[in-house]
Amino acid sequence: MKRRQILQQTAFAISTFAFSRDLFAQGGMEEFRVAKGGIPPDLIKLSANENPHGPSPLAKKAMLDAVSVSNRYQWDMNGQLREQISQMTGHTKDHVTLGAGSSELLGLVSLWAAYRKGNVVASEPTFKLWMPAARKMGLDTKLVALTPDKHNDLQRMLDTMDPQTKMVYLCNPNNPTGTVSPAADLETFVKKVASDRILLLDEAYTDYFDSPSMVHLVNEYPNLIIAKTFSKIYGMAGARVGYILAHPSTIRQLNEYQAWANSGPSAVSMMGAMAAITDRDFVAYCKTQNRKAKDLLCLGFEKAGIPFIKSYTSFVYFDSKPYGKNIPELLATKNIIGARSFEQNSTWLRLSIGTVGEMEKVVGLL
Ligand SMILES: Cc1ncc(COP(=O)(O)O)c(C=O)c1O
Repeated sequence: MKRRQILQQTAFAISTFAFSRDLFAQGGMEEFRVAKGGIPPDLIKLSANENPHGPSPLAKKAMLDAVSVSNRYQWDMNGQLREQISQMTGHTKDHVTLGAGSSELLGLVSLWAAYRKGNVVASEPTFKLWMPAARKMGLDTKLVALTPDKHNDLQRMLDTMDPQTKMVYLCNPNNPTGTVSPAADLETFVKKVASDRILLLDEAYTDYFDSPSMVHLVNEYPNLIIAKTFSKIYGMAGARVGYILAHPSTIRQLNEYQAWANSGPSAVSMMGAMAAITDRDFVAYCKTQNRKAKDLLCLGFEKAGIPFIKSYTSFVYFDSKPYGKNIPELLATKNIIGARSFEQNSTWLRLSIGTVGEMEKVVGLL
């Protein structure tokens, strides 16, 4: 097969609709590796909403230092990290439990809900990594289409709940669309859902634009479970640290379903996370850079006549249809991967925000 044919097939494979967890994990890398016979040194990976600037210098140093204590179990360290996390939101360490990334905890909560049998209500499309396992455990999924402007349709989600609904999953800002719901609407939603069933609120991206967070409601609503991660603004996706904030009684119940609670992140990752929290300059830098790079991309989309949704995250959702050309294929010619679809038979694609320089390359190509 000629090189060009292989590349075209690769671009097609990357751009096609796929929810497989493998594809999430690889972010399109494997297909590219096969086509190119190795990862090119100039590869620009825009598939998994990773922070292109992280980890912070302080986190890197802390992680290196922690290698030497990795021979011991770090019983105290998880308490220190939970304490530090809880101070950011005015809670206690008993409001926090840690996981090896928030994915692990989304899995834990959805399996906890699945144990009660019934259904879960969630948007379509949204972040679905946890869904296949929950389905296998007996939780039916009731998916609710977004509004025409690609926002979570909170009212329709409420209308879709029935007596069998054991959990509602809401990703705010939503992945893959990047939209947020207003704080007042979210508070009403929390009150209506979490009064008698689990509301799993995924706030992986709130830090980028200070989007409304509902952490202040966890004491009032023990069914409200908020998932957060060090993988995004803190730039530590590979270190695998995430956490849940919830009422202490909820945290205790969840921990009963784990062989060893709070043991997911390694000593190296926990030390990195603790240092990352203190490095506020780095977080501010990442926010600024993300905003600049996103604005640049959106300006490029405007000039190229590509409609897009205003994003409050580190990725942008856009409609490739009016552009005419196959955008993933075009980007792959310059070793840029990541534009992919999350809706069946749809021309809407998501692209992660990279550095300003990387976005200049994308815009230059368009
Ligand atoms: C909305 C959302 N939640 C959770 C995650 C998982 O993050 P983690 O790396 O903490 O498992 C992601 C990762 O892309 C995400 O987009």
